Amino acid sequence: MKNRYTITSALPYANGPLHIGHIAGAYLPADIYVRYLRSRNKDVLYICGSDEHGAAITLRAKKEGTTPQAIVDKYHGINKKAFNDFGIDFDIYHRTSDPLHHKTAQDFFLKLEEKKSFVKKTAEQFYDEENKQFLADRYIQGTCPKCAYEAAYGDQCEKCGSALSPKDLINPKSTISGNKPVLKETSHWYLPMQDHEEWLREWINNGVLDGKKLHDPSQWKNQVIGQCNSWIDGGLHERAMTRDLNWGVKVPLKDGDGKVLYVWLDAPIGYISATKAWAEKEGKDWKAYWQNDDTQLIHFIGKDNIVFHAIIFPILLKQHGDFILPENVPANAFLNLEGDKISTSRNWAVWLPEYLEEFPGKQDELRYVLTSLAPESRDSEFTWKDYQTRINNELLSIYGNFINRALVLTHKYYNGVLPECGDYSSEDEIVVNEMNSFAEKVGALIERYRFKEAQNEMMNLARLGNKYLADNEPWKLVKTDEERVKVIMKLALEISAKLSIISAPFLPHTAVELQEMLNLKELNWDNYSDELMPVGHQINKAHLLFTKVEDELVAMQVEKLQKSKILKQVPLKEKAVINFDDFTKLDIRIGDIIEAKKVPKTNKLIELKVKVGENVRTVVSGIAEHYSAEELPGKKVSILINLEPRKIKGILSEGMILMAENSEGKLAMISPDNEAIESGSVVR
Ligand code: MF3
Ligand code: ZN
Repeated sequence: MKNRYTITSALPYANGPLHIGHIAGAYLPADIYVRYLRSRNKDVLYICGSDEHGAAITLRAKKEGTTPQAIVDKYHGINKKAFNDFGIDFDIYHRTSDPLHHKTAQDFFLKLEEKKSFVKKTAEQFYDEENKQFLADRYIQGTCPKCAYEAAYGDQCEKCGSALSPKDLINPKSTISGNKPVLKETSHWYLPMQDHEEWLREWINNGVLDGKKLHDPSQWKNQVIGQCNSWIDGGLHERAMTRDLNWGVKVPLKDGDGKVLYVWLDAPIGYISATKAWAEKEGKDWKAYWQNDDTQLIHFIGKDNIVFHAIIFPILLKQHGDFILPENVPANAFLNLEGDKISTSRNWAVWLPEYLEEFPGKQDELRYVLTSLAPESRDSEFTWKDYQTRINNELLSIYGNFINRALVLTHKYYNGVLPECGDYSSEDEIVVNEMNSFAEKVGALIERYRFKEAQNEMMNLARLGNKYLADNEPWKLVKTDEERVKVIMKLALEISAKLSIISAPFLPHTAVELQEMLNLKELNWDNYSDELMPVGHQINKAHLLFTKVEDELVAMQVEKLQKSKILKQVPLKEKAVINFDDFTKLDIRIGDIIEAKKVPKTNKLIELKVKVGENVRTVVSGIAEHYSAEELPGKKVSILINLEPRKIKGILSEGMILMAENSEGKLAMISPDNEAIESGSVVR
């Protein structure tokens, strides 16, 4: 183990509140790791802050009809408070709109420019003529060439994680106007990532750079190495490091007018500026945390950020020349919720600020559950039922019960003061030996980023304590062998004290409460093998650490979730204005469906015969998932009859049935609400 640690958690975009998926992915595991290292007396710096630039912010501002500054000010405050209330213990929660950050990012850029790390060139980029804006990153959406996901962004597919550039997208569209973009020339600074393939491959797979062993790749997660290799093997490409936008860090060069740094160049440097801000405040040297070989830099992130932290940022750091590279990038997979993907736009999430408000004082309960089901190597799922089970059957029945018994009995028998007693029996010694092994076991798992197993191992100490009391039954023995009971209670309290140490990284609030009840001053990992509960020690009043989660609460939360999903309004993305002539070009009529049959070997298509006035038209319609062929004949529908005929699965389709689609993708036909409207009537 090295002595100094720089730990980062991905800077969340300040464009909305945090949810449990964020927490389980990048913040809780880092916080556990940091608390453990601090308990081992390591020099640890834990930094985070708001990512306040990029299209995530500007698009949100546009949608809400406000300014980017107003958005980031609002959510920086909300997120900072939520992290703090939840007990994520950053040394600093900085922000990328801070002038210190702008200066740091600009200096970094200039250094790279000076080192000729970029290629400046003019190339065609997508452009939205209506909004007079170049389209990169989230400003452009289309179909992912790798996985066919239809809403992939210009820089990344959020479905399969591929790093993309706008020109990779199939059928690209501007996310501002919905328009098909045109190509227009603009000049930018590009990072030729392809020049870095060789050393990246060696560094990621063998931990070796310039012949020096830097990290142990067996400690990296398989999925991180796997993703990196698949990108490198697929061939890295040059990527623009600047953008034609006005929200962001300005390009500090004469010919950089109207341009800002690409957000993925800007935000990771935010880790460095946050360190500077912290060091200034604390009178420390920031460089020790970024430029000293004796420092371990570790980035905790979600899997959608792997390419940026394991490939792009390391290239930038290495090009700069003064910086260390990350020792590890322990990325987590995604957390799903009640059978569905967490989604901000569909409001399918458990929001951290809401949880904290509805469950005051229950931070550790959520921490426990989220660590139990952490998506450490694959996606996992949170359900409220599971939340209940894990708290009632584990946290409360095992941890809570053991502590409560140990403390209540000590008060009952000895008024809370440990009496003089004899030696441990040989059976006790076995328990003592086992007890002593936990600090090492839990620590080793945390050091390997196996937080789920580490927490379970911590619970095994509580299980050991529970079993010890259950096997020895001091409540019965007290009538026959008082001397023996004194020994039992002493060991039970010793286990409790040790539990307070090794549970602290996972359950920090509980550990503090427990140490208060045990009347212990703050203990750390190195105190583990001390005798913590000597004869004569007085403990404080006991109270219950956890309360039972009732069925009603589970039902309520599930219901709330379902409701919020329905209530959520889909924001209207309005199309460009048209004139009346444009509208009158559409010949829409009322028709009667007289026949319907499924198109063979397709899932969605139905072939319809629609009577429009005296004519019968054939129309192929993609509605088979919503209607059966049997229920369609007899329905009156609206049909666009002058749409250019086209062949679908070999059938000539002569028109289009108009359908309304809601936010859930449900379809309905547009039918006249009056029987007098006969077939062939004009819709206008
Ligand atoms: N804001 C980004 C996201 O939420 C993460 C930025 S991490 C940093 O995906 F390294 F850029 F800071
Ligand atoms: Zn994809």
